[in-house]
Formats: sequence, structure tokens, C-alpha cells
Amino acid sequence: EKGGYDHFMLKEIHEQPKAYRDTMLGRIDASGKKVVLPELKLTDEQIRNITNIHIVACGTAYHAGLVGGSVIEQLVRIPVAFDVASEYRYRSPLITPQTLVIVVSQSGETADTLAALREAHDNGAHVIAITNVVGSSIARDADDVIATLAGPEIAVASTKAYSSQLIAFYLFALYLSQVRGTQTEAEVAHIIAAMQALPEQVEKMLDNTDAIKTYAEEISKHEHLFFIGRGMDYAVVQEGSLKLKEISYIHSEAYAAGELKHGTLALIEEGIPVIALITQENVMEKTVSNIKEVKARGGAVMAITYDEHIPSLLKSVDQALAIPKTLPILSAALSVVPLQMLAYYASLARGLDVDKPRNLAKSVTVE
Ligand code: F6R
Repeated sequence: EKGGYDHFMLKEIHEQPKAYRDTMLGRIDASGKKVVLPELKLTDEQIRNITNIHIVACGTAYHAGLVGGSVIEQLVRIPVAFDVASEYRYRSPLITPQTLVIVVSQSGETADTLAALREAHDNGAHVIAITNVVGSSIARDADDVIATLAGPEIAVASTKAYSSQLIAFYLFALYLSQVRGTQTEAEVAHIIAAMQALPEQVEKMLDNTDAIKTYAEEISKHEHLFFIGRGMDYAVVQEGSLKLKEISYIHSEAYAAGELKHGTLALIEEGIPVIALITQENVMEKTVSNIKEVKARGGAVMAITYDEHIPSLLKSVDQALAIPKTLPILSAALSVVPLQMLAYYASLARGLDVDKPRNLAKSVTVE
């Protein structure tokens, strides 16, 4: 059942290339220049009238939403607000019929997410569900479903569901940009080509995980650590931090790199591990300054970045790990993989139950 892998989580991490391919299949036209989403009832007119988007979800699905919403803002220039589902309806969100609400849920059964969907409906919004279970309550109640085709996810810690949610968001963002004319055909084709390269790039990363394993064994001896990143990288490290907490029970915090000095820097002491994710090259120099602040207080910094930046970064960090290069908006689909592996190997090094962490259930049907 685990297909030769020691754990479902490891199997599901390795299924990501297939999940990416399956989620893209049939949604990119033969020319490779256009996204097609024939399953959508949402009309072009409705798309042109969207004034704002709300993305609502819990946990890992929320983290996928953070990336997805940021991609939509960049490609389509529609304002996006993000909410964890348990907060959404209690803050009287400003929903109108021109608001598009996107709920994200692997299981499609999360109680808070379902309640958020109903709140959106009560206020006349069109709701799109990005879900992995097409027969689920959330899929049934939503006006539209964009199915992630990741296959069943058994491990409590979500991996392939998250990353295929990213693929679904990329496709949907491109689709919106086509209708609203915010990207040229050439720009769309360029992004599609980069998306089509992602599965192989993930395979390449999974072929060699020795360095991340060694590093995970190192951090498994610590009780606290930090993740930092900017922009899309900040969204991804929030997911990396959750994954690590969830299955290794190591306390970690994910910080926007520039925010550390506004208080939390006080916690940086000799030897504390700090993982810096650096794929957003426009803000790389800024993150390097933040790394220097950490180093000056004795933090031990591991950078995860593109090969070409490692030689210069090694002047400011203790260790570095390379990931394959892609477009800035697609980086999450690659950079999350070493963070998943880090959590997996740290859990393993601590002798914990990787697939069934304490206190947690796969599907959360209470509010
Ligand atoms: C973490 C994890 C949870 C879920 C969350 C939402 O690894 O799996 O944070 O992402 O409980 O679940 P779904 O996506 O089923 O709504």
C-alpha cells in the first residue's frame, strides 16, 4: 500500500511530479499557449466584473492560498484578501456579488471552510472550491470546482495536496489573465512552458536528498528554529514551518525576513538554526542584510536558493542548498519540496510516527 516507501508521507512527496502532471492534464491546450478550464461555470462576463477575491482555507491549504493569491495579484491585478476559515465569518467580511471567493481544501470536509463557503453564498458571492475530493461537501456546495488530481492523501501531513493546489492556482490565475487581457499570449505561453518543466525539476530534487537528510538530523537536536523569507518565499516558509512542527514537534516560527528585527531578533542566540529561503531575486539583497543581522547574533544560517547564488551567499551563510531554477511566481512548487523532506527526516531522526502525528486528525470536521 505504501508502494515500497517507508511512510505514506514519503510516498506522497514522491508522487508530486505525477500530481503536477495530472492537475495540468487537459487544462493546457495543444498549442501550449492557453489554459482551458472547461469545467468552470463562471462566465467571462462574471470574470470581467470581479472586483476583489477572498481566499479562505485552513492550515496547509491556507498556505497554498497565500501563494495562489499572490500569483493572481501579480498576473491579474485583482486585489486579494486572505483569511483562515475559522476567522472569516466572524469578522463580517465585505462580500458582494462581484467578490469571487476561493475556498481551498484537500478533504473538502473541513468544517470551518465549509462554513466560510456558506457565509460567502449568503452574501451572493460566486464560490470556487479547489479541492482534492470531488464528491466532498465543499465540492457539492461550491458553484465551481477546480479539482486537484493528486490522488488520495493518507499521511496526516499534507504534501502533494498542497503542491497540486499551487498548480491549480497557477492555472486559474492564467485563465483569469486571459479573460481580462492582463498578460500577453507570449507571456502566458512562457509561464506555461515553465510550469510544464516543474515535474521533472521535482524529480531531480527527489533524486538527491542526502544533504537535506544530513541537515534534518542536525536540526532534530534543536528545540527551536526560525524560517525567514520575503514575498512568495515568506508564504512557502510558513508551510515549511507548519510541516516541521506538525511531525517533528520542533518549535519553529516563519518570519517575513524584514520583520525579524522588530522584536523576534531578541530570540536569536548562539547556534540557533535559521533557514532562509531565497528565490525572489528582486529582494535577495534585502534578505542577505537580514541574514547578516542574524549571523551577528550567532544564528546558524542555512540558505535554500538557486545554484548560481550559492558562491556569493556562502560569504554570509553557514550552509546552502540548491534548488532548480524557475520563474519567481512558480518557485513555491519547487522550494516546498526540500522543506517537506526536512520535516520528514527530522521526524524520522526523532523516532516519531511520521504519518500519524500526535493530537491531529486528517480531516477536521469540528469548528
Ligand atoms: C497540515 C494539514 C492541515 C490541513 C488543514 C485543512 O499538514 O494537513 O493543516 O491542511 O486541516 O485541511 P483540508 O485541506 O482538508 O481542508
